Amino acid sequence: MRSLRGLLPVMILALCHAAWAQSPTYGLGRTPSAEEIRAWDIAISPTGKELPPGSGTAKEGAQLYTQKCAACHGTTGSGGPAPMLIKPQSASTSSGPCVAPCIREGNVMALHSPYATTIWDYINRGMPLSQEGTLKPNEVYALTAFLLYKNGVIQEDDVLDAQSLPQVKMPNRDGYALPEWKPGMPRPFSAKP
Ligand code: HEC
Repeated sequence: MRSLRGLLPVMILALCHAAWAQSPTYGLGRTPSAEEIRAWDIAISPTGKELPPGSGTAKEGAQLYTQKCAACHGTTGSGGPAPMLIKPQSASTSSGPCVAPCIREGNVMALHSPYATTIWDYINRGMPLSQEGTLKPNEVYALTAFLLYKNGVIQEDDVLDAQSLPQVKMPNRDGYALPEWKPGMPRPFSAKP
């Protein structure tokens, strides 16, 4: 009996090893096709190296914004049911005090995002809500240009494309650096209830 008890862990280990080696299949799912992976693999990194060809300006974007975005985000880019995209011109037209992260007295993606490529990626991937994936690259460049121009980050005539978009100097580009922390130092972020 004693020798059997000693053997038990060895037997369990051997069983696990056998099960592992056989790598069971559960009959669920399937290997995605290369085309399916391509359709999902659309993330744009801060360097913008994945950006497709195409270009757009704020003027082109203004028209698109009215057609495809204003119903949810408001005709002026604020005051709609969806999040504010354009900082109100004056404090009196804003709905209240700016909430952190507050960049140039505004809290919109075109101001607080550290990279302009993130805005392109967000619009391309997720907007217009419930019609995602319908925008052409030129349209996404134009809408990104429009939002950056309206928030005072670029000029109205600036042409955004795969080369110029990653070069846009975002006002909050240094705002996401982690504070230096070493073991033993107080936590850099306090826990919020
Ligand atoms: C049907 C309504 C609807 C339409 C149309 C729409 N959006 Fe949105 N949008 C939303 C909602 C809702 C959110 C918030 C989503 C969330 O936080 O999960 C959002 C979020 C965003 C954000 C991120 C804002 C932030 O600060 O997080 C951007 C940028 C944006 N939309 C751009 C656009 C653009 C550009 C268009 C036009 C091409 C557009 N949206 C059309 C509903 C809409």
